[in-house]
Amino acid sequence: MNYNTIFSFHMPTKVVHGFNAITQLGKEAKRLGIKRALLVTDGGVKGAGLIDDGLKALESEGIPAFVYDEVEMDPGTKTVAKGVEVLKSESCNGVVVVGGGSPMCAGKGIALVSANGGSIADYEGNEKYKVPPLPVIGIPTTAGAGSEVSATFIITDEKRNYKMAISGPKVYPDVAILDPLLLLHIPFWPGVNAGMDALSHAIGASCTNEATQITDSLAITSVALIIRNLVPAVLTNDLEAKNQQLIASTMANIACGSAKLDLMHALSHPLGSFHMAHGLANGILIPYVMEFNLPVCEDKFAQMAMAMGENPHGLTTSELGRKAIERVKGLFTELGFPRKIPSEIVDKKEIPSMVKQAMTRPMTRFNRRKCSEKDLTEIYLKAFEGW
Ligand SMILES: [Fe+2]
Repeated sequence: MNYNTIFSFHMPTKVVHGFNAITQLGKEAKRLGIKRALLVTDGGVKGAGLIDDGLKALESEGIPAFVYDEVEMDPGTKTVAKGVEVLKSESCNGVVVVGGGSPMCAGKGIALVSANGGSIADYEGNEKYKVPPLPVIGIPTTAGAGSEVSATFIITDEKRNYKMAISGPKVYPDVAILDPLLLLHIPFWPGVNAGMDALSHAIGASCTNEATQITDSLAITSVALIIRNLVPAVLTNDLEAKNQQLIASTMANIACGSAKLDLMHALSHPLGSFHMAHGLANGILIPYVMEFNLPVCEDKFAQMAMAMGENPHGLTTSELGRKAIERVKGLFTELGFPRKIPSEIVDKKEIPSMVKQAMTRPMTRFNRRKCSEKDLTEIYLKAFEGW
């Protein structure tokens, strides 16, 4: 093991889990002192009726809510600014988010700017805020982003066409309500992309220099849960598989809150500038980054393989580690998931600028295997060629 000898683990979000857990929303909001809530969501989630039980739960505790449903995919600074305006004009003092990664990021941004003033771009980076955000309750409707338990969120700066990462210990939502019933109607591809994002968080959290025994236990279990449950969760109405996916996604994000993320997310963010879905970009990169990291992460991949049920008998650590990569590739085949970066979305000639962008991401430093511009270029080149 190559764990840090001194480490800390911090996860202040209260997790409330269970079938119909959304009924607890009113009680949790009241406990946080929310008198009037801004419910942040998107048109799809609202249209599918997924906020209705949440509104009822707030109402049962006498908490009125104003619904802000204008969040787009990869929300930008304007969406956050408008949300802040609405929150203030409606005199709300807390934010409830029902949705996937995009509403979750927008909601966290609205809560931060409402408390601190200015524009969300003022808070790019780590701990740039002066006071904590307004209370936030996150209720995910996809099993992937894990933003409901994370200290980070991403907002697109439209002027620079750049995804800003905003983080800090006060950015963790106060409460995450995990209700598997909200996952019942996710269409196939959004479900797959979310699941691949979760898998990239789980694998990524175990391949950093910050990983510890606590984060590994969460991350490695999460990898095994995803390998076992993602296919039935997205292809069938197996509610228990969806439940396991939701738990796995949350566990993966709790892990990367302390362990941080590996190179995958550094390489995927530039792809996001070409409007490639976050989960799709990360998913495609998983086998390539695993191959790159294998020489220094054999032990972690071997543990993953055993957690997936592989028999270690007669295998070296490296051979066992390779089994984990094979199982991930097997998952791709079962789902029909793309094996390379689609050239109709991103042109290969963008590689040099994507490498420059990726090198600025802290994840390149967190990655357990040291990496240079040349390494990143080679990984992108392989990812354009396919496996
Ligand atoms: Fe992610």
